[in-house]
Amino acid sequence: MGITAEKGRILVTGGAGFIGTHTAVQLLKQGFQVFILDNLDNSVEESVHRLRQLVGDHLSQNLHFHLGDIRNLEDLEKLFSQTKFDAVIHFAGLKAVGESVAHPMRYFDNNLVGSINLYKIMAKYNCKKLVFSSSATVYGQPEKIPCLEDSELKAMNPYGRTKLFLEEIARDIQIADPEWRMIMLRYFNPVGAHESGVIGEDPKGIPNNLMPYITQVAVGRLPELNVYGHDYPTLDGSAIRDYIHVMDLADGHVAALEKLLECKDIGFVSYNLGTGRGTSVLEMVAAFEKASGKKIPIKLCPRRPGDATAVYASIEKAGKELGWKAKYGIEEMCRDQWKWASQNPWGYQSKP
Ligand code: UD1
Repeated sequence: MGITAEKGRILVTGGAGFIGTHTAVQLLKQGFQVFILDNLDNSVEESVHRLRQLVGDHLSQNLHFHLGDIRNLEDLEKLFSQTKFDAVIHFAGLKAVGESVAHPMRYFDNNLVGSINLYKIMAKYNCKKLVFSSSATVYGQPEKIPCLEDSELKAMNPYGRTKLFLEEIARDIQIADPEWRMIMLRYFNPVGAHESGVIGEDPKGIPNNLMPYITQVAVGRLPELNVYGHDYPTLDGSAIRDYIHVMDLADGHVAALEKLLECKDIGFVSYNLGTGRGTSVLEMVAAFEKASGKKIPIKLCPRRPGDATAVYASIEKAGKELGWKAKYGIEEMCRDQWKWASQNPWGYQSKP
């Protein structure tokens, strides 16, 4: 087994993905043993090789990769019968809004069925500590900003509904069995990459999200950025979001995990992970152009259906209760995003 098991063995579902790999780096650095379970549906094993390269041979001994699917009880059974986990950080899931509208069953199957399977096995093996990957999508189109953890929750599409249901499912499980400790982390807009440029986001197909799209324009994979909406009631007419550096997000998971392991009476609790600052699409484009020295051609387009004008987080609760606060601003997010993209213009693949 690994070199320093005393901090705990953590199962990281979806650990080969964007947020999972970055969180795994920070967990390994903190001395945890990390067990990744991933079906590689929206990721590649190369990300795990890169992760090993990044943390070095010594810490790599504490990293274990298992190819498997949370929808498959046998895969989970095998894993839990081999290793006694101290906690689970559950990232595995699908996250493309448009796809969820076209194929809701895929979302219900992966996100809902997969998570319910996972919780069943966790209960069976008496591993009742969970950090769950939720999303600001649970605030829908917020009427009041910043979004507070106790603001009204609303799902806008099947993907959002899975996140909302999964928060409620977790709450019900915890109420019925108070031995569970559950932390829901509501991410705002994760961007950037590890400062080494060795790991980063590598979406399959044409990206849905703003930053990967800008990046692919910058490296010449896509001709121009469609800016969805230029008539919003904001200073420059484009929509506002709370972008958060993925390494800050990763540290937020470590803070949540430490709280989960230490605090007996945590019960069920949700935290926003954002910076508390809003940035418009056009501001983000300008910041990326500055960081990369590349011109990003844009086309002003109509609003994207379902998009909110402005979304940003209240960060007080995470600050007070987790002792966590984002360190990085837009400049660092764009710098590290560009470092990853310029070193890996085709992501983890070589040019096709
Ligand atoms: C989206 C999802 C959210 C999900 C998150 C996952 C919607 C409505 N929301 O958040 O549920 O949790 O991704 O990461 O899809 N934009 C452009 N051009 C583009 C892409 C985006 O102008 O090519 C704009 C959007 O209109 C938006 C902003 O950039 O104003 C951010 O978009 P995006 O990165 O897709 O994130 P969200 O929509 O906030």
